[in-house]
Parts: sequence; C-alpha cells; structure tokens
Amino acid sequence: MANLTIRNLQKGFDGHQIIKGIDLDVKDREFVVFVGPSGCGKSTLLRLIAGLEDVTSGSIELDGREITQVTPAKRDLAMVFQTYALYPHMTVGKNLSFALDLAGTPKAEVKKKVDEAARILELGPLLERKPKQLSGGQRQRVAIGRAIVRNPKIFLFDEPLSNLDAALRVQTRLELSRLHKELQATMIYVTHDQVEAMTLADKVVVLNGGRVEQVGSPLELYHHPANLFVAGFLGTPKMGFLKGIISGVEASACEVTLDAGTKVLLPFTNAQQSVGDSVTLGIRPEHLELANEGDCQLTVIADVSERLGSDTYCHVRTISGEPLTMRIRGDLASQYGETLKLHLNSAHCHLFDAQGQVIRRALQAAA
Ligand SMILES: Nc1ncnc2c1ncn2[C@@H]1O[C@H](COP(=O)(O)OP(=O)(O)OP(=O)(O)O)[C@@H](O)[C@H]1O
Ligand SMILES: [Mg+2]
Repeated sequence: MANLTIRNLQKGFDGHQIIKGIDLDVKDREFVVFVGPSGCGKSTLLRLIAGLEDVTSGSIELDGREITQVTPAKRDLAMVFQTYALYPHMTVGKNLSFALDLAGTPKAEVKKKVDEAARILELGPLLERKPKQLSGGQRQRVAIGRAIVRNPKIFLFDEPLSNLDAALRVQTRLELSRLHKELQATMIYVTHDQVEAMTLADKVVVLNGGRVEQVGSPLELYHHPANLFVAGFLGTPKMGFLKGIISGVEASACEVTLDAGTKVLLPFTNAQQSVGDSVTLGIRPEHLELANEGDCQLTVIADVSERLGSDTYCHVRTISGEPLTMRIRGDLASQYGETLKLHLNSAHCHLFDAQGQVIRRALQAAA
C-alpha cells in the first residue's frame, strides 16, 4: 500500500515562499506527474516528500503515518535524479546492491533482488561495467534499478529523462510506463515536458508559482482546463486565445463578439455572465479549419507554416493581431501574407472570464 496525503504544505527559502499551501492525494499504484514551468516548485515539492528539505509548515502522511519530520532513509521512498548520481568507482552490479549491502540484507536476498532488477531493465550484460562505460540511457536505467531493488512504497523521479537525446527519451518514456504496470508501483514524476506528463500520468498536477492550478487525468485537463494557465500550458501547438466581450446571454447560450470581428454563439453559459463582460475564447489548433462559407468565420492573415508531412501547422494572425495556429491533417501550402477564412467550431471553443477562470458549460456544471 502507498497512499500519500499532503495537507497545506508550505516551504520558504530565506523568507521567500516557494510552496504556497499545497493539498494533494496520491493513491496506491497511481502514476502522478507534477508539471509546470521552470522555477514553479516541482523539485522542491518532490524533495519535501522525499525528506530532503524541511517543511516550513503543513503535513505529509504515508498510509496514515505522519512522516513530515521523519528522516529520508526511514520514509520508504526512493528517488531517481536527473543526474543519475551513480557511484563512479563501483560496477553496475555494486551500484545496484550497495544500499541493500549497507542495510545488512542477506547476500542471497541481495542477489535475487539485483538479478530481478537487471532482468526488468535488461541490465544483465552490463553488471560488470563501470558507469563511465555506459551510455546516458543505460546509466539512467541503473539509477532506476537502484530504486527498484529497495522496493520502495513510492518511486520519486525528478526529470529523469532530460539528459537523454530525443529518440532515447521516447523509448525510455515507454519503458517507464511499462515498468509502472509491471511493478504495480506508485510513482511521482516531475517534468516540465507536457508530452511526458500527458503520456505517462494517471493524474497530472499542474503547478504554477508554488500553487496547484489543476489536478486531473491528462485528457480531463486537455479537454476541460479550469483556467487560462492550464489551457495554454498543455497541448502542442498551444491553444489559441482570442479576446472579446459577451454581447448576448440566453438561458443556455451566450454570444461573444471577438476583437477579431467575428460573433460566435457558444452553447453554454453560467449565471455570473453579463453583457459587456470581457472574456477570452480559446480554441485548439485541431479545431480550426479552412472554410470559405458558413457561420463563425474568422478572417486571418497567413504567417509561416510548418509542413511536417503528416500534418501542417499553419500559423496565422487575426485582423486584430492575435496569433493562432491551425493544425491540418496532411499538407497545406499557404502563402505568407495570404488572407484565409477559418471556421471556429463553437462546440470546441473554451471560454474564460476576465480573471482567467473557465466559464463552464451548462451541461458540464449540471453533470
Ligand atoms: N535551496 C534553495 N535555496 C533558495 N532557493 C531555492 C532553493 N531551492 C529552490 N529554490 C528556489 O525555489 C524556486 C523553485 O525551485 P524548484 O527547483 O523547485 O523549481 P522547478 O519547478 O523544479 O524548476 P525546474 O523546472 O527549472 O527544475 C526557484 O525560484 C528556486 O530558485
Ligand atoms: Mg526542478
């Protein structure tokens, strides 16, 4: 079992508050990813959980036992760092067995655990090598193996893939996903790479400035971001934002007049909206399409486009100067400076109020 409960956790360095009151639950066997921009406090939060930093206030419980003041070695957690932190003078086998040997674990048990970790991570042929004789990916596997042999309640990973090249990152990402399933382990993983967050997580925790912006499954966050920050952070290319005002409110719909000149009737509203309110409409690149006729047309000027073969990312600007990206399946040869007409599919529009909070769809709010 490994259920982690964090309540009102705060951490300051030299009078600067870095973690500003975080509540979080990590359930047994969950793969939880902390994601957010550089400096938002991801590593600090992970280090607080590991016990490598003292908390300023708040509590951390593991399976009902308060561990806030417990030393790292007694927390039953294992951390894997971005820099691997292997012992350079020891062989791979010795790196794997070191913590167990130190704890006085019987030799036969150590061998069994090291062999099992080596099997899972395919390190068998490398056991006699020293870290300097390994590639970056192999070193990272040894660092993960060192955590596995300890059979921790929770694995903590701090950007474990960021020193690997792009191809190896994709491969190791898949291996981690498999490892999570095979070990039935509980894992907390820090990254600023939103693709890693989307592909690995059962639950994503989006952090910003030491606070939690939103917690949910990857697709929940993608399809129902709670605010502008989450909407803009998850998704590549990014969601486009268009400013406007509410120009009409009905029982279950509202009309938005965009600065870009188009009126859009959205099939949702909430009780707080009034005519004249400033709003931001969000639309993802895959929900924009070329259309020379029909409603909800937006006139834009083509900027550069990126032709990837499978898709084209067509960057455009509205007449009010706001940038948008349209994602088209296949190839589209637009000319720089060309005028294009886009269709805004209102079923896929997100709407945010002046404070950046989502204006929920009526159907969702009722559900
Ligand atoms: N030991 C420390 N002393 C003082 N300030 C610190 C210390 N550790 C972290 N900080 C500050 O706390 C903030 C959060 O740092 P943290 O390392 O948690 O960010 P992060 O989200 O992991 O960023 P990155 O994606 O760049 O790794 C930063 O402003 C950092 O400068
Ligand atoms: Mg960090």
